[in-house]
Amino acid sequence: MQYELTSAMITGDSQIDTEHAEWVKLLNELNQLVLDKASDDEVIDKISQLIDHMQLHFAHEEEIFDRLNSPFAEGDKAAHRGLLDRVDVLCERVFDEGLTQELRQEIVSNLGHWFVTHVCKFDIKIRDAVRDETIAA
Ligand SMILES: [Fe+2]
Ligand SMILES: [Fe+2]
Repeated sequence: MQYELTSAMITGDSQIDTEHAEWVKLLNELNQLVLDKASDDEVIDKISQLIDHMQLHFAHEEEIFDRLNSPFAEGDKAAHRGLLDRVDVLCERVFDEGLTQELRQEIVSNLGHWFVTHVCKFDIKIRDAVRDETIAA
């Protein structure tokens, strides 16, 4: 399965949309490595790229939510912290169990499912806030 950024996920903020597109690209690359049963080094390298991207993106997005004075800012931040905590648990499991094929699949589906659900629930609120800001200007 290929992940994609659907029109329902476009916020209208070009930086956020570009970063979301990069997230989807990295996720699909990780998924392909898992399907290809790539080496542990390749999979871990891609997971690291995705985590780095995620952390940078969260920082940018939280600034935007704060600037827009969005009532969803705190919920968005809490959800970001929740994912980073879940990533920590998954990384501990890699350490304990090794990077089994089951765990690889679980990591991809966790990151993919979280991303799609989160963008549709929280990040999309940026679109409404940007539109309201434009109307008020
Ligand atoms: Fe977010
Ligand atoms: Fe986001």
